[in-house]
Amino acid sequence: KKVVLAYSGGLDTSVIVRWLQDTYNCEVVTFTADLGQGEEVEPARAKAEALGVKEIYIEDLREEFVRDYVFPMFRANTVYEGEYLLGTSIARPLIAKRLVQIANETGADAISHGATGKGNDQVRFELGAYALKPGVHVIAPWREWDLNSREKLLAYCEERNIPVEMKKGKSPYSMDANLLHISYEGMVLEDPWAEAEEDMWRWSVAPENAPDQPTYIELTYEKGDIVAIDGQAMKAHEVLAHLNKVGGDNGIGRIDIVENRYVGMKSRGCYETPGGTIMLRAHRAIESITLDREVAHLKDSIMPRYAEVIYNGYWWSPEREALQALIDQTQGYVNGTVRLKLYKGNVDVVGRKSDDSLFDEKIATFEEDQGAYDQKDAAGFIKLNALRLRIAAGKGRKL
Ligand code: ARG
Ligand code: SIN
Repeated sequence: KKVVLAYSGGLDTSVIVRWLQDTYNCEVVTFTADLGQGEEVEPARAKAEALGVKEIYIEDLREEFVRDYVFPMFRANTVYEGEYLLGTSIARPLIAKRLVQIANETGADAISHGATGKGNDQVRFELGAYALKPGVHVIAPWREWDLNSREKLLAYCEERNIPVEMKKGKSPYSMDANLLHISYEGMVLEDPWAEAEEDMWRWSVAPENAPDQPTYIELTYEKGDIVAIDGQAMKAHEVLAHLNKVGGDNGIGRIDIVENRYVGMKSRGCYETPGGTIMLRAHRAIESITLDREVAHLKDSIMPRYAEVIYNGYWWSPEREALQALIDQTQGYVNGTVRLKLYKGNVDVVGRKSDDSLFDEKIATFEEDQGAYDQKDAAGFIKLNALRLRIAAGKGRKL
């Protein structure tokens, strides 16, 4: 028996390695990914070796993550429940896919992860794994063991000689980070009335402490994706890293929300998504001049559904693929440049231009036009649209 574990190198997943070995008497393969969480992944190797792990996978997935998951999601202007930019949700499908691929490569029949039995992440990992490897076994230690307190966990470590390094300045929150966001849940945040302390936030300055001078940037789009910043071509993950930096410096992208988890409970979380917040505004701006009205509205109407599909863990599903095909199909003319002003927590669009623009100054102008639009036509347009209203009113229907 062999199991592939999504291994962060932290205490919880280190305990899981030993627990899997003891409980299932199995060979553990660890998989650690750099998704731009801002922590070294290489130290996970020595830790895994010390736990007797022989097959250790450590991978830099930053480019794949942003190019094949984050960017496609942003083509739809995706937001869950009006606020959440899905930073954690969008990383899980990639991890699930790699877990399955590594299982196939190493001849493992099971996968395992460190998500609890109360959250969304377990659902996302496991739906993905089942979709890609139907016969896979899933081991979710948090749903099985009774090490559900800090004390029990530490006692277990002592008993089994698992080294516990007490990192100084370690945050008490349940956190998850990647190139798109960093999240905070738990502890004082479990009271939705309690304001987060300023020193919780790691990626951004408070808007009131941001510079008094605005920062201007220009984002260039090709087929709905950013390909250059201020005229400089960049890879997808470089784009996001750059936007996180300028966004964070200007106090952009903090939110504090209560969201509905798929498993049924409400949960309070704080998120920093500086680059994503900028991308959302900018993408809407470039679409505003390049997309047909009905296509834009159609996209907007399916967006909440698409967000739910991703939040609930159905990236690897036929409905997500179908929605994605529609979204991608609309992006062919979403080319051009957006100019933004970043200032104390705000992202203001101050300019947009495109060779594929549908904006026609000659038609839109308030000055005398050249016959492309005849104002007299508007009378009939309004009158026919009013027909059913007039019929009903004529029948004496009250509004
Ligand atoms: N509530 C967010 C979501 O469901 C963030 C979850 C964070 N995950 C974590 N393991 N700390 O997407
Ligand atoms: C967890 O329960 O492991 C984190 C929170 C979540 O998945 O929603």
